[in-house]
Amino acid sequence: MILAKSTGFHYHRHLLQSSFPSSYNFSLNQLQRAITKRISLSAQYKARTNHISSSAIVAPKMVKAIRVHEIGGPEVLKWEDVEIGEPKDGEIRVKNKAIGLNFIDVYFRKGVYKASAIPFTPGMEAVGVVTAVGPGLTGREVGDVVAYAGTPMGAYAEEQILPAEKVVTVPRSIDPSVAASVLLKGMTAQFLVRQCFKVEKGHTVLIHAAAGGVGSLLCQWANALGATVIGTVSTKEKATQAKDDGCHHAIIYSEEDFVNRVNEITSGKGVEVVYDSVGKDTFQGSLSCLKLRGYMVSFGQSSGTPDPVPLSALATKSLFLTRPTLMQYTVTRDELLQTAGEVFANVAAGVLKVRVNHTYPLSQAAQAHADLESRKTSGSVVLIPDGC
Ligand SMILES: NC(=O)c1ccc[n+]([C@@H]2O[C@H](COP(=O)([O-])OP(=O)(O)OC[C@H]3O[C@@H](n4cnc5c(N)ncnc54)[C@H](OP(=O)(O)O)[C@@H]3O)[C@@H](O)[C@H]2O)c1
Repeated sequence: MILAKSTGFHYHRHLLQSSFPSSYNFSLNQLQRAITKRISLSAQYKARTNHISSSAIVAPKMVKAIRVHEIGGPEVLKWEDVEIGEPKDGEIRVKNKAIGLNFIDVYFRKGVYKASAIPFTPGMEAVGVVTAVGPGLTGREVGDVVAYAGTPMGAYAEEQILPAEKVVTVPRSIDPSVAASVLLKGMTAQFLVRQCFKVEKGHTVLIHAAAGGVGSLLCQWANALGATVIGTVSTKEKATQAKDDGCHHAIIYSEEDFVNRVNEITSGKGVEVVYDSVGKDTFQGSLSCLKLRGYMVSFGQSSGTPDPVPLSALATKSLFLTRPTLMQYTVTRDELLQTAGEVFANVAAGVLKVRVNHTYPLSQAAQAHADLESRKTSGSVVLIPDGC
C-alpha cells in the first residue's frame, strides 16, 4: 500500500474552501490553460495545412491490451494484441504506467452500461508518458507525464491514443500509481462535496462504502470541510480504515441496521446529505436517514440499480434527489482543470491521502475485477502494465 502524505489534513482545511486552493494549484491551472490555448492554435494550423500528406508506408503499431468480445463475468477480459495506430489531429499517444480500476469498468463489462462497440478495451483512468503527438500539435511534448479520467474508454492497454484536450499534467511530486488511483475517484469526491451538495462545517453526512476507492476520499474531504462523517462498511477492517480516514462513526451495515444507527447517532434528526454509491440495497434506507429538506445523492449502484422512486417518497420530508455523474461536472476544459487541479493540490498538500491498497499486472485484470466485485478490496486498485 502506498500512502501519500497522511498527516495534517485538518491544518489544510482552508485549502479546500476556495476555488483555486493554493498558489501551486493556481499555477498548475494557468499552465494548463496555456497548453489548451496552444493545442487549439495548433489544431487551427493543422486545418490550414492538412493537404500535406505522407506517402510513407508505416507498419501498424501493436500493443497488448485487455479486450471484451462479449459481456459477462471477469472471464470475458482477454489479454490480446491490438493495433494502436498513430495520433491524428489533436491527439497524443500515451504509454501507460498505471491504470486506475473503477467500478464503472465492471458496469461496462457486465452490460449495465453499454459500450458503443464490441469488442472494446475497458478502462477510464490512466497515467502515462506521451510517446507521440499528432501532426501540428504543439501543446504537448513526448515525455510529458499526463493523466486522464473519463472518456474515451480504452485505458486497459499498454499504450493508447487520447485527445490532447482530455489529459492533464501530473505534478512531478505525485507518483504515477497514486495519480492513477486518485484522479477519477478524487474528482468524483470533489464534485460531490464541493459542487453537487456543498458540505459545510456543522453538517452531518452519511457515506456508504466508506472504505472503497471513492468512499475513502469522500470521508477525508467531508471531514476536512468540518462535517460530522458517518460511514457504512461491511467489515471491521474496513471500519478501522474508514475511521483513519476521518469517519467519526463507522457502521458495519452487514451486521447492524444502518438506519437505526444513524437515528441514534443524530438523536433522530437525520443527516443533511447521503452519498449513496451502493444503490439497490441501501437506497430506501438512505431516504429514511435524511432530515427535512435533505439531499439524496445517488451516484452509483454497486449492489444493483435502485428501484424506481415515486415522487411521493420525497414529499414526506421535502427531499432533494439527484443522480449525478462526473462527466457532467467536467464538461469544459476549464471545469476539468479546476476539478483535477483541486484534487492534485490537496494530494500534494497532504490533505488527501491516497490508499493504493491493491496492484495487479494489467494482464490479470480479470482477477482484479473479481476481487472488486466480491468486496475484497478497499481503497484504490491499480493495474500496472506488464514489464513496467
Ligand atoms: N457518478 C459518478 O460519476 C461516479 C464516479 C465514480 C464512481 N462512482 C460510483 O462510486 C462507487 C464506488 O466506486 P469505486 O470504484 O470507488 O468502488 P469501491 O467503492 O472501491 O467498491 C465498491 C464497494 O461497494 C460496496 N458494496 C456494497 N454492496 C456491494 C455489492 N453487492 N457488490 C459489490 N460491492 C458492494 C463494497 O464496500 P463494502 O464491502 O464496505 O460494502 C465495495 O467495496 C461505484 O458505485 C461507482 O459506480 C460514480
